[in-house]
Amino acid sequence: MARNKIALIGAGQIGGTLAHLVGLKQLGDVVMFDVAEGIPQGKALDIAQSSPVNGFDAKFGGTNSYEAIEGADVCIVTAGVPRKPGMSRDDLLDINLKVMDQVGAGIKKYAPNAFVICITNPLDAMVWALQKSCGLPAQKVVGMAGVLDSARFRYFLADEFNVSVQDVTAFVLGGHGDTMVPLTRYSAVAGIPVPDLVKMGWTTQARIDEIVKRTANGGAEIVNLLKTGSAFYAPAASAIAMAESYLLDKKRVLPCAAYLSGEYGLKDLYVGVPVVIGAKGVERVVEVELNSAERAAFEKSAASVQGLIEACKKIAPSLA
Ligand code: APR
Repeated sequence: MARNKIALIGAGQIGGTLAHLVGLKQLGDVVMFDVAEGIPQGKALDIAQSSPVNGFDAKFGGTNSYEAIEGADVCIVTAGVPRKPGMSRDDLLDINLKVMDQVGAGIKKYAPNAFVICITNPLDAMVWALQKSCGLPAQKVVGMAGVLDSARFRYFLADEFNVSVQDVTAFVLGGHGDTMVPLTRYSAVAGIPVPDLVKMGWTTQARIDEIVKRTANGGAEIVNLLKTGSAFYAPAASAIAMAESYLLDKKRVLPCAAYLSGEYGLKDLYVGVPVVIGAKGVERVVEVELNSAERAAFEKSAASVQGLIEACKKIAPSLA
C-alpha cells in the first residue's frame, strides 16, 4: 500500500514540528508548502536527513507551489501569522482571513479529498472561513484547539496530583480563547472525577480554579515567555493525534473545533466540542449534558466565536 501523503500548509514553527512528528510516527510522506522561499525546502531537507538516524522511511519535499500538494490525504494548515505579547488571537483575524482564502483555493484545486486540520488563529473563525473557501464537506474540515487546551489542562492536573499524565483525562469545551470552558466534572484521574478528588482531599477547589484559569490562559503564558511567537510543540502534537485518528480510523474521541448544524442548539459555526474522528472525518459530534453554569459558559464562548464569524463576513462578504 502506498504511503499516505500529508501536506503541511505553512512551514513555520508549528509546520516544522509537524513534519518532524509525521516522520517519527511514520504516518506518511510530507510536502511542506509556504510562501517564504527556501524555508519549506530547507526544513524538508533537514528533517529528511534525520531519517537515517531515527530510522524512518518517508519522502520530504518543500514547495512554494500548491500543485505539489496534489492528492494529499491530510492537509494541516498553519499558514498565517502567530501573535506577539499583548495581542489576543482575535487580533490576527484580518490578516489570517486573507491567508485562509488563498489556502482554501489551493486545497479546493489540488486536495479536494483531504481531511483538513486548521491550526491558524483565531482558530474557530479561521476554520469556519477555510471550510467556506475550500468548499470541502464540513465533516472533512476541522480545527485543532481542544486537544491542545485539554492537554494543557491534563498536564496541570497531573502536576498538581503528582500522577502520570497518562491517567488524567480532561474535557474542554468552547472556542479557543479566553472564554474556553474547561469542565472539571468531566475531567478525571483514572476515572475518578476531579470534584471527587477535591472531596478526597487531593487538592482544594481554589487550586482547581487556578488551574482552570491557567489552562484558559495557557497560550498567552507561552507567548509572554517566548516573546517572538506562540506555542508550537504542543499544538503540533495535538494536530498529529487528530491526523493519526483519521488515517488509522482509530475513532478517537477528541475535543475539536467542529461544524455544528443544530448540535448544542447551534448552527453554521465551528466551536470546540467532543467529536469522533475516523476514516470519514468527523463521524459524530458528542453532545454531553451540561448543567446551567456550564451551559451559560459554553453559550458565552459560542457567542464570542459567532462575533468573530460576523467580523469575517463583514471583511469577506463572499463567505456569508
Ligand atoms: N500561504 C502560506 N504560508 C503562509 C502565508 C500564506 N499566504 N502567509 C504566511 N505563511 C507562512 C509564513 O511564511 C510562516 O512560515 O506561515 C508560516 C507561519 O509560521 P510561524 O510564523 O512560525 O507561526 P506558527 O508558530 O507556526 O503558527 C502558525 O498557528 O497557532 C497558530 O496563532 C498561530 O496563526 C498562527 C499559526
